[in-house]
Amino acid sequence: MTAIPTFVLGGTGYVAGELLRLLAQHPHLEVAGVLSESQAGTPISSVFPQLQDSYGDAAFCDREHLYERFTAGRAALFSAAPHGASAALVADCLARATQAGTELTIVDVSADFRYADAAAYEAVYGQAHGAPELLASFHCAVPEHLAVSDRPHVAHPGCFATALLLASVPLVALDLAAGDLHAVGITGSTGSGRTPGPGTHHPERHGNLYAYKALEHRHAPEVTGLCAAATGTRPTLHFVPHSGPFARGIHVTVQAALREPVHADELRTSLAEFYADNEFIQVHDGTPRVKAVTGSNYCHLGVATDADGVAVFAVIDNLVKGAAGGALQWMNRQLGWPESTGLRTPAVGWV
Ligand SMILES: NC(=O)c1ccc[n+]([C@@H]2O[C@H](COP(=O)([O-])OP(=O)(O)OC[C@H]3O[C@@H](n4cnc5c(N)ncnc54)[C@H](OP(=O)(O)O)[C@@H]3O)[C@@H](O)[C@H]2O)c1
Repeated sequence: MTAIPTFVLGGTGYVAGELLRLLAQHPHLEVAGVLSESQAGTPISSVFPQLQDSYGDAAFCDREHLYERFTAGRAALFSAAPHGASAALVADCLARATQAGTELTIVDVSADFRYADAAAYEAVYGQAHGAPELLASFHCAVPEHLAVSDRPHVAHPGCFATALLLASVPLVALDLAAGDLHAVGITGSTGSGRTPGPGTHHPERHGNLYAYKALEHRHAPEVTGLCAAATGTRPTLHFVPHSGPFARGIHVTVQAALREPVHADELRTSLAEFYADNEFIQVHDGTPRVKAVTGSNYCHLGVATDADGVAVFAVIDNLVKGAAGGALQWMNRQLGWPESTGLRTPAVGWV
């Protein structure tokens, strides 16, 4: 099979670095261009030394040099640009691809195509949408909750949302939860991207643990909307995110009142059956650990119950299952390959 040319936007970012790491091992996708608005001409390996062996002297390119590499036929494009910038950039790419006879399949990891309509996006993100005419060509879901996408392009739901959805959707779909969902999530510092800010800088986060945007995180409405799309029921979600003292990984706990008492073993079996066809979701005895998934596309789930309540735990790597890996899983599916292609590398275990 001829490799499909693959393009990455947001080239020097953390998610782009993870995409390039995963793409280096992919049997059917070949990196043809990596856009960097800030470091065009710089070798990829000078920003990502861990990728030296895979990319040699290849350099980031600017927009015009990226577009010159569009050729007739199919191509894959991942956007790991920031929200607010991604939509217009993606629209530009699509226009230039059409001129070149390139049929692009896009997976956007930013928030720009997660909402079905521009007004909803603008209400949450406080800025005009960069390409509202493209919204109808994107579907947003985790692959485990949407069997078939009838749209050409995909919006990745994001890292916290992936973990929250994987834990919450079975509770709602199986009608186990009575009333609201209450969730606590802890994320590593790579979740905030490459540029340090006063609240996201590593010295603030290292050796520290604190809540932020408690009960007002902007991804909470995205989660309940996607839960409704997956199950037909929109739950009320009370979400308190935390910054954790580690670089990568997410741990979420979703709690709810049970409609009727369920033993933890029974619930574990129900979750395992719910995800039986999804090889990246594994239901474990006890409570799952971040290190067991770090560097991998796997999600580990665990459960606990008492007389009238349930807690579902989910751990993922925010940069892999929560971003680059989840995006590649979607790309595999959109291009007709098994969705685990190039993604079955086990977790590192110790980081
Ligand atoms: N970090 C995570 O765990 C995570 C998880 C899920 C989703 N996401 C989403 O994935 C995207 C990338 O996240 P990240 O953590 O990799 O962020 P990041 O480390 O800040 O990287 C984003 C990159 O985008 C490029 N960029 C910056 N401003 C731009 C602009 N105005 N126009 C076009 N490109 C611009 C920059 O690369 P160049 O200068 O090289 O172009 C920058 O390095 C974001 O939309 C984020 O919300 C992140």
